[in-house]
Amino acid sequence: MTALHRELHLAAHFPGVNNTTVWADERSGSQIDFTSFEHLARTAERGLFDFFFLAEGLRLREHKGRVHDLDVVGRPESITVLNALAAVTDRLGLAATVSATFNEPYELARRLASLDHLSGGRAGWNVVTTSDAFTGENFRRGGYLDRADRYRRAEEFLHAARKLWDSWTPDGAARPVEHTGAHFTIEGEFTVPRSPQGHPVVIQAGDSAEGRDFAAASADVIFSRHGTLEAGRAFYADVKARLAAHGRHPDDLKIMPGVTFVLGDTDAEARERAAEIRRQQISPQNAILALERIWGRDLSSYDPDGPLPEIDPEPDSTLAQGRVRMDDPLEIAARWRALSKAKGLSIRQTVIETTGRQSFVGTPRTVAEELLRFVDLRAADGFILVPHITPGGLDEFVDRVVPLLQERGAFRTEYSGRTLRSHLGLAEPIWKG
Ligand SMILES: Cc1cc2nc3c(=O)[nH]c(=O)nc-3n(C[C@H](O)[C@H](O)[C@H](O)COP(=O)(O)O)c2cc1C
Repeated sequence: MTALHRELHLAAHFPGVNNTTVWADERSGSQIDFTSFEHLARTAERGLFDFFFLAEGLRLREHKGRVHDLDVVGRPESITVLNALAAVTDRLGLAATVSATFNEPYELARRLASLDHLSGGRAGWNVVTTSDAFTGENFRRGGYLDRADRYRRAEEFLHAARKLWDSWTPDGAARPVEHTGAHFTIEGEFTVPRSPQGHPVVIQAGDSAEGRDFAAASADVIFSRHGTLEAGRAFYADVKARLAAHGRHPDDLKIMPGVTFVLGDTDAEARERAAEIRRQQISPQNAILALERIWGRDLSSYDPDGPLPEIDPEPDSTLAQGRVRMDDPLEIAARWRALSKAKGLSIRQTVIETTGRQSFVGTPRTVAEELLRFVDLRAADGFILVPHITPGGLDEFVDRVVPLLQERGAFRTEYSGRTLRSHLGLAEPIWKG
């Protein structure tokens, strides 16, 4: 049988601390209890997903000098959680976001190789560079590294980690490692024998030219924020074109945007549910906070049901700390004003319309067809799904959408391999001892 569709990869994002999750929903559980992690991981494995994914924040976010506690706050350390999940799952990949700016390669390589051993070859590492000095204050004097230095450090970090992972021969002998670079010096043997995957799968989530080049040179998967068809295709073409310069094939790097979904028995019902979820995600209070984050100013006197502020954003504000800032605030303000004017939208309606819109909305069939279309049109190789209910928000997707993807021949009906690398269709790393 000739396949009608390209193969699709799926991963499950445990939502962590944000307002994508509707924490006020009575079905929402704890973001800390092991039972929550276990539920989502078991569901993802039941759905034959490639991997389970955890984000990371190294400092509680602050807003106007106080801990931002409108949503939930606090979460356990990711690799520890994944080690526990390794014991209650069998095939599911287990990926943790861990900063290359605030860790040391020898120690992190040990922890990742250990997870790879304990899970039988299912470890993944999302290498982030962590953009803000605020987060850095707990880790290094002065907190900061500029973007170029962060990526230079990440490159050297990954190079050193791979040297450590390759330092044991496949037949079990430890050989000495020597590494001297601008950021790290390592000398001596590595403590952990070669793990089942050789190298845990490397994921990258950064968007700058430096970030894209880093991914093209070194990553196996990109977690991207380009979840629309148009932006997804542009990002996909840009990143895949960068691979050849590093002697790599386009299939060596899988692009997986983070996306949300809302299902219904009819498309209209799904759209209604999606609109209701958006209103829950963006309460009047959350709308003002979202605006303050962009504007960098105290806007508490503004009415969420009134018009956008006339005053311009303060570009270098530190009002909101610990969030990844993606775009220029002046440019966002101009876009929001134009939209609000064109459609007659209030502050809250503008925030609902512009931030975190649901990516795939409709009946299970509509959503399945759309996912396949995005993959066929090369806007993605797959998706990291972000449910809006923790931990049960993936259940319906696995029960109702996965069978349709399987029916169309685009998704596995059983795991064929044991390792995350094999689920992703990636080659085993060549041992460079
Ligand atoms: C989709 C996506 C998810 C990210 N998730 C995290 C995260 O969980 N923890 C973190 O510290 N940084 C995260 N980052 C931020 C990256 O680490 C990086 O610091 C930031 O994007 C700046 O890098 P850039 O200049 O290459 O974009 C994420 C970025 C993107 C695009």
